[in-house]
Amino acid sequence: MCHLMNIEKFQKNLIEWYKKEGRDLPWRHTRDPYAIWVSEIMLQQTQVDTVKSYYTRFLKALPDVKSLAGADEDLIFKLWEGLGYYRRVRHMQEAACRIMDEYDGHFPDNYDDIIRLKGIGAYTASAISSIAFGQEKGVIDGNTLRILSRIYNRQDNIALDKTKKAWQLLMDNLIHGADPSMFNQGMMDLGAGICTPKHPNCEHCPVSDFCDAHAAGTESLLPVNIKNTSKTDLYYITAILKKDDKYFLVKNKEGLLENLYGFVQYEVESPVSFEETFYENYGLSVRLYEYCKEIKHVFSHRIWHMNVYLGEIMDEPETSSLLAEQLYTEAEMAELPISTAHRKVCTQIP
Ligand code: ADE
Repeated sequence: MCHLMNIEKFQKNLIEWYKKEGRDLPWRHTRDPYAIWVSEIMLQQTQVDTVKSYYTRFLKALPDVKSLAGADEDLIFKLWEGLGYYRRVRHMQEAACRIMDEYDGHFPDNYDDIIRLKGIGAYTASAISSIAFGQEKGVIDGNTLRILSRIYNRQDNIALDKTKKAWQLLMDNLIHGADPSMFNQGMMDLGAGICTPKHPNCEHCPVSDFCDAHAAGTESLLPVNIKNTSKTDLYYITAILKKDDKYFLVKNKEGLLENLYGFVQYEVESPVSFEETFYENYGLSVRLYEYCKEIKHVFSHRIWHMNVYLGEIMDEPETSSLLAEQLYTEAEMAELPISTAHRKVCTQIP
């Protein structure tokens, strides 16, 4: 991927444009590595506009590594409720505890130490080390891969690891000698606002003079991104189970939605097998008496089809020592961290 260009001029054009046109975002007013870490973790799988308010609320509640390390589990999940991919915040707390133990509460100041923290991959380690500590580490993600494919007019499949590795080396070369924070965030904003997947706005691009795809007229054909998109469909019976004025919820101990609360759901084919499975698990009789509807929820590589039923718990709570702590009023449910999928199920409560 060798290409002759005036790298200094490329950097200068990009950074001058970023200073004038870059987005004003809450996490761009700080160099505190903790705050930048929080923003980058949220931004891993969530849109910038959604992250803004979550970021501000999270930092207000948990302003530093120490407060996150010592925070109550239900609080951290409540702060994350609705953002999805909840493992992110559990990993952040684990990392915060390690920073307390191994770095005396000071966020590690270089890429190699940062990438060893739980939940941090190459992109996030590059972003934090460049923005907070000025390290020359280029960020590689869908946006920057698209820009690079166009600048160099290359058809290498960006879904492949070997392509990402090759572009990482090139990005680290391109960033060398520039302000790493502004270079990376300039590339991010270029990808978000100018060098977009469809109809890139080349007329306003600060680096169009360097762009081989623009010269060849191939920008709309790039990048090549061929991935296996097949998703696994899972079919559940999901039951809104009521006892008096309370609802039965379980806290997930593992999986995609670890630590979040939700209704009981099983991959079973009939309401009767749901009742049987529930009895095997909890020793309690339940009766499903009404079908509501199918609710679909799409995760990155999975689709849940939740067939929602209304049901009642027939036995008295004393029959199970577990039961009392698993029944919640609607008011209590509003305070619990509940996954977005199961919040959708809540809409079926009569
Ligand atoms: N996406 C990931 N990191 C970002 C950042 N620092 N600014 C804007 N968008 C981002």
